[in-house]
Amino acid sequence: MCGIFGIIFAERPRRPLGEILRRGLERLEYRGYDSAGVAVVDRGLVVKKDAGKVAEVAQRYGFDSLQGVVGLAHTRWATHGKPDQVNAHPHVDCRGVIAVVHNGIIENYAELKEELMKRGHVFRSETDTEVIAHLVEEYKKQGLDTFSAFKKALSRVRGAYAIALIDAENPRAIYFARNLSPLIIGVGEGFNIVASDIPTVLDHTKRVIAVRDGEYGYITAGEVYIEADGVPQDVAARIEEIPWSAEMATKGGYPHFMLKEIYEQPESLASTAAGLEPAQLEAVANALLAARNVYIVGAGTSYHAGLTLAFILPRLRITPIPVISSEYAIYEDLYDKDDLAIAISQSGETIDTIKAVKAMRERGVKVVAVTNVVGSTLSRESDVVLYTRAGPEMGVAATKTFTTQVLTLAAVYLTALRALGHDVAEHQRELKAVPDLARKTIEKTAGTAKELARRLRQRLSAYYLGRGAALPVAMEGALKLKEVAYLHAEAYPAGESKHGPIALVEEGFPVIFVFSDPNTGEKTLSNVAEMKARGALTIGTVPARSDYAKKLDVAIEVPQTSELFAPILHVIPLQMLAYFTAVERGYDPDKPRNLAKTVTVE
Ligand code: AGP
Repeated sequence: MCGIFGIIFAERPRRPLGEILRRGLERLEYRGYDSAGVAVVDRGLVVKKDAGKVAEVAQRYGFDSLQGVVGLAHTRWATHGKPDQVNAHPHVDCRGVIAVVHNGIIENYAELKEELMKRGHVFRSETDTEVIAHLVEEYKKQGLDTFSAFKKALSRVRGAYAIALIDAENPRAIYFARNLSPLIIGVGEGFNIVASDIPTVLDHTKRVIAVRDGEYGYITAGEVYIEADGVPQDVAARIEEIPWSAEMATKGGYPHFMLKEIYEQPESLASTAAGLEPAQLEAVANALLAARNVYIVGAGTSYHAGLTLAFILPRLRITPIPVISSEYAIYEDLYDKDDLAIAISQSGETIDTIKAVKAMRERGVKVVAVTNVVGSTLSRESDVVLYTRAGPEMGVAATKTFTTQVLTLAAVYLTALRALGHDVAEHQRELKAVPDLARKTIEKTAGTAKELARRLRQRLSAYYLGRGAALPVAMEGALKLKEVAYLHAEAYPAGESKHGPIALVEEGFPVIFVFSDPNTGEKTLSNVAEMKARGALTIGTVPARSDYAKKLDVAIEVPQTSELFAPILHVIPLQMLAYFTAVERGYDPDKPRNLAKTVTVE
């Protein structure tokens, strides 16, 4: 949830090191923005850090004028200790020569802290991270060199971590380690980088190595050294060229990443469609049809994307079991070698999803990953990977990754349908048309979403209702509004709304209906009538030229397509409604409070 960035140069870079670190932090800020900090070595260790957003802290402490050739930076999403200056990273040892940044949780930090305090170490913060700096200090005191001391410290800590550490007494290296929390190396000419994710290094290099669980090592300006269980790893063979440009990870003229990424959807969907490999889809479809149980696993938005497949699979006589990643243990006794799991994660690093997948694989379940990030943990922990190719998503609220996940899953469904002998030519044509229809949806619905946002801004609560295959879209719409506009929003099966939720409805209460499933539209209309009778403001996403519009107070018309692809089009106005409502209410949709883009703690 926190973001890590460390860079080491052979000689002083043309721009001040502090400015480079600040820019790295800006790229990382979507991972956590409770506090920010940097450490550089410039005739000794210099640490600047505080609570607040990157821009404020960087300005206050003059990050841009810091000099040196080696430095670390960190943005924090607080887990241990309140977000204040003392708890901000980097953390240092007693003598102020070792600095460490960390993403994750050191589970046994309390006992380590007690042990170190008994040995005379003085702790400044309440964080779990600080024990790492003191452990390395302790082992150096016992005569080990920095790398050996670092390795010994790692042997003492338990938990999830991505760590980067520098030692001002040995400033030619950045030491790193990973267990469960994401970490990559950016390989450069005359410099090297460690970072939490790929977008952070794109300003400098596109050559990346994904560090694996249990690995540790160091980078110097000219070398990348990785070890696992004491064995040096073949680093050169693992360098991957990333097909993303630095420009893709900037706002490109939009006020927020979220809006940019909503508008990017036609392009992302085209890239997803172009990247679908028939042979791979056939392998997945055959595994789907042959499986005893099919689990569809994901968290948040990725779970909702999974539900769009789960709700149509029964048509193939498959009974899917949707699994919210963090609840994978419910089905633990079922997992078996004849089963298949489709695990969905934009980042490929969500800890709940990774843990679910590991538990399933231990019992022989075959795993198909649907992810956006090449080389991510999920991609490595799976038997088959379907990449969504949406490009980097920086907004904390997932948008283009939802629609590209739905498209990928719909392609799996179609391939299975064809394997069962059905003619899918018409559906294939619809799939090809999706990017263009998404563009038309954005053009046609942005205005209405903006107007509606003005009406919603004063409300406290809203319902999102849908039946059948429309329900996951309603769930996704409600999640978006909660996340970025801080309005209470709840999704229900439309028919279920009369079993309790309707009690809250009074004059002007917004109820947003999703009409993306043609099989359930008529029935949903009766729920519209029930809500209207109680004075609700009835809003709906409806297929163009349908009669549903007449029954609603506000109808948002989206182009016609089949229910397979309709979730992609119907969610777009709901994403925009959430975005514009957040802006109307004066919030920054890219940095929703208490949230981080990738959740790497349980
Ligand atoms: C979506 O808007 C949220 N930020 C969140 O629910 C997210 O989808 C979830 O944390 C899963 O992330 P992943 O797709 O990277 O696994």
